[in-house]
Amino acid sequence: MEREERLDVPNLQWFPGHMKKAQRLIEENLKLVDVVLELLDARVPVASANPMLAEIIKDKPRLVVLNKSDLADPAATKAWLESLASRGLKAVAVDAQKGKGLKALVREAEELARPRAEKFVKAGGKARAARCMILGIPNVGKSSLINRLAGAARTKTADKPGVTRAKQWVKIGSSLDLLDTPGILWPKFEDKEVGLRLAFTGAINDNIYDREAVVLILLQVLGKRYAERLRERFKLKEDIPERPMELLALIGRNRGCLVKGGEIDLEKAQNIVLQEFRSGRLGSVTLEMPPEGKKE
Ligand code: G4P
Repeated sequence: MEREERLDVPNLQWFPGHMKKAQRLIEENLKLVDVVLELLDARVPVASANPMLAEIIKDKPRLVVLNKSDLADPAATKAWLESLASRGLKAVAVDAQKGKGLKALVREAEELARPRAEKFVKAGGKARAARCMILGIPNVGKSSLINRLAGAARTKTADKPGVTRAKQWVKIGSSLDLLDTPGILWPKFEDKEVGLRLAFTGAINDNIYDREAVVLILLQVLGKRYAERLRERFKLKEDIPERPMELLALIGRNRGCLVKGGEIDLEKAQNIVLQEFRSGRLGSVTLEMPPEGKKE
């Protein structure tokens, strides 16, 4: 891909030591829960997944939660749900910002947790609600989802002085409690393609990548699959130019991003493209489709 070689996406937040610590924290909490909610970004379900998840959670039941489904292409989300189901994975799509899809999430999580909770009681344990925790990479919407699920219950406990914030449970279903601190996973940042897609969605800090390269590649991807959207949104009369730099210039021109002397302010145009993509103003867009056929 043009200019891709210029892109270097370092991830300053995740050194091996950090990853080990994150993994240890998750493993401690895993002992306490019956089911894990794996939060993914519905626009990039592959890039937003952690490569070691299965290894970390071992045989713990897992519910895949495709978040930010309001920003993703509904047909693609449906295809993803079917693809995950065909691999034997339970999955739901939600919008944690507006609180959509949460009833189905709780229902599925309760169902997945039930056998373990029942086994616990049969083994002589005191009957208790099933327990779950949320896992996901930064920015995927973990806090938003916890806040939505927990609602008022969480605010109440959090306000009590002297109440430690660690290991608090909030009731989110008739028989399901949620750990109110999520497990933070690291992304597969060593994979350049993954780094790129995370940069598109804003999951990687804006200051640590080459913004121009990211925007040009995003325009290339959108030009291929969502050309009409680009034409509409940026009022392009001409065909989408093959070279993304030309497309960026057209967008800048149409949006009045000009510097002295009438030249196009490409930096301003880049910001517009990124902001409009990330906020969904370019419409609902999915950047990764499930593999053809059944299995990944
Ligand atoms: P994290 O805990 O996993 O790091 O993620 P967090 O909940 O902080 O969410 C990261 C950003 O994603 C937030 O936006 C949040 O509002 C947004 N978000 C979370 N879930 C959804 C969703 O389902 N749909 C949409 N459209 N956005 C979602 P932000 O810009 O960082 O903050 P703000 O705009 O909420 O102030």
